[in-house]
Amino acid sequence: MSPSSTMPLVSIVDVRKKFGDFQALDSVSLDVRAGEVLCIIGASGSGKTTLLRCVNQLVTIDSGAIWVGGELTGWRIDGTKLHALPEKEIARQRLSTGMVFQRFNLFPHMTALENIIEGPVQVQKRNRAEVVREAEALLARVGLADKAGSYPANLSGGQQQRVAIARALAMKPKLMLFDEPTSALDPELVGEVLAAMKELAASGMTMIVVTHELGFAREVADRVVYMDRGAIVEQGAAAEVLGNPQEPRLRAFLSAVLS
Ligand SMILES: Nc1ncnc2c1ncn2[C@@H]1O[C@H](COP(=O)(O)OP(=O)(O)OP(=O)(O)O)[C@@H](O)[C@H]1O
Ligand SMILES: [Mg+2]
Repeated sequence: MSPSSTMPLVSIVDVRKKFGDFQALDSVSLDVRAGEVLCIIGASGSGKTTLLRCVNQLVTIDSGAIWVGGELTGWRIDGTKLHALPEKEIARQRLSTGMVFQRFNLFPHMTALENIIEGPVQVQKRNRAEVVREAEALLARVGLADKAGSYPANLSGGQQQRVAIARALAMKPKLMLFDEPTSALDPELVGEVLAAMKELAASGMTMIVVTHELGFAREVADRVVYMDRGAIVEQGAAAEVLGNPQEPRLRAFLSAVLS
């Protein structure tokens, strides 16, 4: 096997981040293998979103290192020296990662199809006709083949979130980050978004998913990470972490979520 096939797709090494005096991430280390689905759980304020935002370079880390797809993010190594990457290079690195947020953030003045093709055509400068064909296939994949011409205001929250997933996939990311993608949805719409994510996981996409949907985590995640106060407190196979939690804080968290 080549070294790249054994290297994790994401490697987070001793990452720290403070906002003012508040330690939002406290020495977080985590590897994610290609094709792995990792779910992150934890109480509000425990640092889950901050960690995702560090992976995507929307937050700059104070110390430590994050590698994505074999590239050190944010820095270039020159012998023993480190040079901060220019914004253009950071933007290029960011393209390898797709992100779906809690609140659907589609462009309201564009149809579902236009939302999906915007990045590939405008940013990646790809051929429009080819991108449109791919976008139509992506819409079909998330169960929205008939909604290509609909504007976000005329789609349900669950449909908008599935368009957001298709839009992220249109950029052909190596990694998908999800930040509580179903928590703003009415309960009856949660299932259709989780189904689209499940299909994506089955297709082999590497995914880091912040979620309170423990059923989804149990069924789909290869590994579950529990965070508290900016640190990873427990991690392991989903059945272990969710079914046989060791840490008292995790036990309390799980019983609160399940009650
Ligand atoms: N840009 C920022 N400036 C200042 N403080 C921040 C900033 N972003 C996050 N924080 C703080 O860092 C802590 C971790 O926030 P984060 O959003 O990562 O938590 P979370 O685990 O995602 O919580 P939730 O489940 O509520 O989404 C919180 O106390 C938050 O107030
Ligand atoms: Mg959050």
